[in-house]
Amino acid sequence: VIEITDEEIRRLGEFLYRRTGMVYSISKRYYIERRIADRLAATASPSFETYFAKLRADVGGEIEKFVNAFTVNETYFNREDHQLRCLTKDLLRERVATGQAAGQLRLWSVPCATGEEPYSIAMWLLDKWPLVDTYNIEICGSDIDTDVLVAAQLGIYGKRALMRLPEQVIDRYFHKVTQDSWQLIDELRGSVRFSAVNLVEPTQMKNHGLFDVIFCRNVLIYFDDASRRIAAENLYDSLLPGGYICLGHTESMSRISPLFEVCRFEDGIVYRKPGARP
Ligand SMILES: C[S@@+](CC[C@H](N)C(=O)[O-])C[C@H]1O[C@@H](n2cnc3c(N)ncnc32)[C@H](O)[C@@H]1O
Repeated sequence: VIEITDEEIRRLGEFLYRRTGMVYSISKRYYIERRIADRLAATASPSFETYFAKLRADVGGEIEKFVNAFTVNETYFNREDHQLRCLTKDLLRERVATGQAAGQLRLWSVPCATGEEPYSIAMWLLDKWPLVDTYNIEICGSDIDTDVLVAAQLGIYGKRALMRLPEQVIDRYFHKVTQDSWQLIDELRGSVRFSAVNLVEPTQMKNHGLFDVIFCRNVLIYFDDASRRIAAENLYDSLLPGGYICLGHTESMSRISPLFEVCRFEDGIVYRKPGARP
């Protein structure tokens, strides 16, 4: 681990914030120093200044690697599963009842990290949603971190990622690779489309089209008010009229943006883009 000055931390933080919306302040010094030490070693940079020059010039695609090094990718299957219950019990029921789905349903897990969230949605729909075969369902998973997207496509997970899944679900949808790793069956891996996206970049977000339901969980906690607002506006533009957003349980749209309606369902609070009701 190297030692860097407060001013260097400020410059790195500013660089990262402008590209990702994530805020890293001096209070995360140890976390920052560990990651920067790795990047200095990987790029054979003898000093912070040499590294920062390479980063700014994007030598060898360093910006992407730098961003990947700073993301926090913590996730697991069936995290906050009350929202999955809400999805099948209330959100999809309403999308279908209003006829807004018109045979097609598009769901987006952004950010998806290593894929546990979009795959959980896919398994949940297969197991618990009677209309699963009636609709053409598209599930997309996106993240800014290109390393996690590679892992998501591979679909190999350890015990910790699977801890919330019932035994029968693991038996049905995974095969054992080693003593303590399991791979998702091909059918499921093929059911989610993965792509890189930056939540604070409107053009990248718009490229993905419009969705019925978006899961945007446990990322806004890393942002500040300004980047949260930009992300909220981009998410709003990515929703069909009447479409829903699920946030993490510590996150609230009400404090970020007035664009959405708050919907209280039995299994949780979600946010809705205003639009036609039945
Ligand atoms: C803690 S994970 C959340 C994963 C999953 N949604 C969950 O709740 O379990 C946060 C993810 O946000 C991603 N992320 C951070 N900034 C982002 C941005 N500007 N655009 C898209 N994804 C971002 C990170 O790469 C990381 O994988």
